[in-house]
Amino acid sequence: MNISGKARAHTNIALIKYWGKANEDLIIPMNNSLSVTLDKFYTETKVTFSPDYKKDTLILNGQEVSEEQSKKIYRFMDIVRERSQSSLHAHIESVNYVPTAAGLASSASAYAALAAACNEALDLNMSDKDLSRLARRGSGSASRSIFGGFAEWEKGIDDETSYAHSIESDGWEDDLSMIFVVINNQSKKVSSRSGMSHTRDTSRFYQYWLDHVDEDIASVKQAIKQKDFKHLGEVIEENGLRMHSTNLGAQPPFSYLVPESYEVMEIVHKCRKAGYPCYFTMDAGPNVKILVEKNNQQYIIDALLESFNEEQVIASDITHTGIEIME
Ligand code: PMV
Repeated sequence: MNISGKARAHTNIALIKYWGKANEDLIIPMNNSLSVTLDKFYTETKVTFSPDYKKDTLILNGQEVSEEQSKKIYRFMDIVRERSQSSLHAHIESVNYVPTAAGLASSASAYAALAAACNEALDLNMSDKDLSRLARRGSGSASRSIFGGFAEWEKGIDDETSYAHSIESDGWEDDLSMIFVVINNQSKKVSSRSGMSHTRDTSRFYQYWLDHVDEDIASVKQAIKQKDFKHLGEVIEENGLRMHSTNLGAQPPFSYLVPESYEVMEIVHKCRKAGYPCYFTMDAGPNVKILVEKNNQQYIIDALLESFNEEQVIASDITHTGIEIME
């Protein structure tokens, strides 16, 4: 008998970054992080378990993924089997709804959707907390994609205690949106996994990062409570830059940012000076994300379109919706 489940999960972008693991195997982070979940970018995944399957298979955007590229998924499915005390293998069909060539990380929505689809298929009745713990084992940031709106991932100390939860915001996220500036970059990619572990192990600035991130989390929560956009923006921009500067302190140093990333930061500064508050953040790549109030969104898009083309500038609302079960 085949059993299946299908789920949708949205991507999230960290406002306060997760950067460095305390436990590589369990994906326990060194610090708490805090994100917003985006409406426009998501993953839909259907998983079918059957005694007829001798191994796991993955179809991504209609194409079969090679065994070599599926290793992380196989490991994740082993964790699912262990948790559910099942020996069944699975056929996984996953579609990423991100604009073509956007090059945006989708591992957060991918593992959140896969965790929820497995939960559904195997009737595991997991709580959101347990789903978050499971998604975390695929990709740390996936722990936050179980929830809509603002979410905080509590680092915890072990598998039991490391999970995300949503943060009450009285619907403030409805007034906000995020503009993505997609920068095409030919330079060799450093994965978030290897970048953060190299930085944690070698950066002269890493301890400084750890010493200040809790203050940033507290400030952001305060800003959300007070719906204080300026305060929120100033803290998240500083936190993102501080994360990137830890990479500059690594031995050898490295950076995810390229000249166009700095060009976008410059445009953000100019918009602010002109009286349109907006704040940037960057992750393990050159793309820049700009947090704005919706009523100022068009001004900032127009400013960006003077230097970038329409395909490179994509705005998304923040969604209330966490995991959705489909069919
Ligand atoms: O969960 P990962 O391995 O994709 O790492 C995410 C790292 C950052 O995007 C840079 C920060 C974050 O908290 O999402």
